[in-house]
Amino acid sequence: MDPDVTDCERCPALVKSRSRIVNGTGPADADLLFVGEAPGEREDERGEPFVGRSGEVLDEGLRKAGLARADVRITNCVRCRPPDNRDPHMSELEHCREHLQAELAAVDPVLVVALGKVPAEHLLDRDVAVTSEAGTVHEADLDTVRRVLVCVHPAATLYDRSQAETFEGALATAADYAGDGGQSTFGDF
Ligand code: URA
Repeated sequence: MDPDVTDCERCPALVKSRSRIVNGTGPADADLLFVGEAPGEREDERGEPFVGRSGEVLDEGLRKAGLARADVRITNCVRCRPPDNRDPHMSELEHCREHLQAELAAVDPVLVVALGKVPAEHLLDRDVAVTSEAGTVHEADLDTVRRVLVCVHPAATLYDRSQAETFEGALATAADYAGDGGQSTFGDF
């Protein structure tokens, strides 16, 4: 089943602020599914998740962990850009949940990687202290039970070197879960 959303008007504020719906990208059968918060300005312009500054950090982190962006699936909790890059409201997260569930079911990843507090709390359905829990894997009931790795958001590493180390550590854990489908086509190079 194709998890792409072509038409959705459930969130009036986001319908107003978006230029387009930003669907997930990457292989439909990826071992790793990275879940961010919501598209920012660049993502809204280009129609692809994590293509701005955070995306550069994510790409670099993946590379250091021996993973290639082309081999992982990347999506967001909410597919439309919130106004002024505010956090998505609870109602918006709930409206978009069905789309995320459809993507989870279609991709059926070995591991879901929650990039930051909003996705971690949305997926685990509890408060999450991301910095202290980063790198830990939890089981979450997402229609079916799935493994969720807590990871700091790539943007958090831009201001704090210790967060960068935490981020890289969590991605190394993600790489351990990826089979052949998650390995970089360039090996260690
Ligand atoms: N931050 C996110 O959480 N998602 C994106 O797609 C870009 C930045």
